[in-house]
Amino acid sequence: MAIRYLEEKKIFQLDTKRTTYLIGLTPEGYVGHIYYGGRLKGEGSNYLLRMGEAPYTPSVNLREKSSFLDFFSMEYPTGGVGDYRESCLNVRGEAGSIGCELLFTSYQIRKGKPSLEGLPASFGRDEEVETLELWCEDQVLNLRVALSYSVFADCDVITRNVRVENAGSEHLKLEKVYSACLDMDNRDFEMMTLPGSWARERSIQRGKLRFGKQLVSSTRGESSHQEHPFMALVTPETTQESGKVYAMNFVYSGNFIAQAELAQFGNVRMVMGIYPENFCWNLKPGDHFQAPECVLTYSDQGLGLMTRNFHDFYRGHLIRSPFLYGKRPVLINNWEATYFDFDSDKLLAIAREAKKAGIEMLVMDDGWFGKRNFDDSSLGDWTVNEEKLTSGLPDLVKKVNEMGMEFGIWFEPEMISPDSELYRKHPDWAIQIQGRRPTQCRAQYVLDLSRPEVVDYAYQCVADILHSAPIAYVKWDMNRQLCDIGSSYLDKDSQGELLHRYVLGVYEMQERLIREFPRLLLENCSGGGARFDPGMLYYSPQIWCSDDVDAIERLRIQEGTALIYPLATMGAHVGDCPNHVVGRNTPFETRGHVALAGSFGYELDITRISQEEREQIPGQVEMCHQYQPLMQKGDYYRLASWTMEKPYDCWEVAEKDGSQALVTFVQVLAQPNMHSRFIYLKGLLEDAVYSLEGTEEVYTGEELMKCGYLVPSEKGDFRSYLYHFIKR
Ligand code: GLA
Repeated sequence: MAIRYLEEKKIFQLDTKRTTYLIGLTPEGYVGHIYYGGRLKGEGSNYLLRMGEAPYTPSVNLREKSSFLDFFSMEYPTGGVGDYRESCLNVRGEAGSIGCELLFTSYQIRKGKPSLEGLPASFGRDEEVETLELWCEDQVLNLRVALSYSVFADCDVITRNVRVENAGSEHLKLEKVYSACLDMDNRDFEMMTLPGSWARERSIQRGKLRFGKQLVSSTRGESSHQEHPFMALVTPETTQESGKVYAMNFVYSGNFIAQAELAQFGNVRMVMGIYPENFCWNLKPGDHFQAPECVLTYSDQGLGLMTRNFHDFYRGHLIRSPFLYGKRPVLINNWEATYFDFDSDKLLAIAREAKKAGIEMLVMDDGWFGKRNFDDSSLGDWTVNEEKLTSGLPDLVKKVNEMGMEFGIWFEPEMISPDSELYRKHPDWAIQIQGRRPTQCRAQYVLDLSRPEVVDYAYQCVADILHSAPIAYVKWDMNRQLCDIGSSYLDKDSQGELLHRYVLGVYEMQERLIREFPRLLLENCSGGGARFDPGMLYYSPQIWCSDDVDAIERLRIQEGTALIYPLATMGAHVGDCPNHVVGRNTPFETRGHVALAGSFGYELDITRISQEEREQIPGQVEMCHQYQPLMQKGDYYRLASWTMEKPYDCWEVAEKDGSQALVTFVQVLAQPNMHSRFIYLKGLLEDAVYSLEGTEEVYTGEELMKCGYLVPSEKGDFRSYLYHFIKR
């Protein structure tokens, strides 16, 4: 039993394999947070609720409401009634005020995990997950709120979500609704986040938590390059293997906030949810609102275990694609090979060379539709440009298929170019503020997906193309962030719903796509990796990680991304050199080893690279096939980090049963007069004997893990090595 109600103590106890989460009810009915941490053998106790403490001394009035609320650890704090820390819920009633106070009314414990209306959400079989629903009520507003907790015992994950219902007769306005809150005492916490920018997404940042509020957020309409819907609070000694880690990740692809607040009594409040700015949802009598899901995990064995909890959870309970563990084709994408300058002959020439080298799929990127010869036109006009694809798309696909290759295609369905037939016909379909000159970004506007006919149109454009030829893969791109938040479809009182309705529109389109084309391999993308989040993983098993494919930049980007997301979710390609973003030259072999950590492909003009490089491709394709199942299923260990501490980078993927492990070592900058270096493997069986593939060398698991494997010192920058240890 993962969830119990200890009736006498009024405590809900949620147990996973290694963690326990305790929720307690006060006599008034406040839902308090008692504990989250290492697994308790016994039952939780009430004294942990700390109900009798005065905030200021001397004070006799221990339970004066504001004094009490401003210290008490809440499961889901509300705004305006005496808790001055960050609130999770602000509701404005018809009188115009926003006070709200939730008191417990009832609960339900059930097996399994309900899906969330219109939203991506984790799932699990009845024997894998249990769900607790705590119902609370604000009697003045007649507002009913369900706090939902699903316990995935095996992965040490608890997911939370919140549903708000208007059970009264007033028209309420929901101005803020977060999905999770965690109140704790400070333990010298440090905050970890994943900030970035275009072409350098998700760098790991860590720093001491200071007094006040520290937050990361997106107001860009998507999860963004700049910030990431992830936050962890870690104790100062935290490494890959030790230290306490509290982490939250948001299953949502729009505006978010992740915030930690160190308050006056040394207590910390960590929250995550939809960013409240420019959000206001109408809750008319009888209406409800479902807030997205937040994933929580706790590790007392450092960051490594946090990472593996997330990886196991996303693989086992969020990604639905048949390609999750299925064979994925090695693809070649023409973007960096040609940009907009291609035609069918050029694509066929790439395909021919690629086929010879063993590559299995050609992906035709941006520029095949309307009159799009540059990035300033035609988004929305999804008709094939027959000046470029001279004998049409079905014929091109047929020719590629006849070579024995599959065909994939790029779309950017959420966008509309000012210079497009679609915009000339439906200018009101773009997101814009009436009377204001709309802001262009990459010479484009964003479609108003709160308007159902726009969702239908945009979806149908994609579906029609997919029906016209046997297309095996779609790269779904989104190349600008949202501003000018105005809809000519929504009435003036509903403009605050636009940003969330936009995200719901994206989800609806992708849900339709994977239902209508269940065997399609979908890769999400957003100007590189600006929408790499758990929400999108519900629809696509892989996401383009970054527009920067330089092998050295990718070390940092992939380290940050793999901190949370399984390796096989990261779209990673061997690119051209000098690299188009940073101008760096790296060995072809290193580019291959680094891309092997993700879903593998090529992004270069194979007809123009050197013979020497071309000759390496068949070996790399074979390497990808050999290791792909291990990379998809194995346990990931970060052995050394170039970005944090070392002149080299090193990671390992071990089969869960310890039968094999693949180690990738990248020497970033060579150092003079260096000896060999030890790397300490993980996840092996101590007593087993391992041979190192391609050599006569033999080691015990104990040696490799305790004493270490010796990586020889060699000259040369940007060099990489793969070590495959196989149990005998
Ligand atoms: C984005 C993607 C690229 C490419 C271009 C096409 O930047 O990340 O891979 O598809 O769009 O315009």
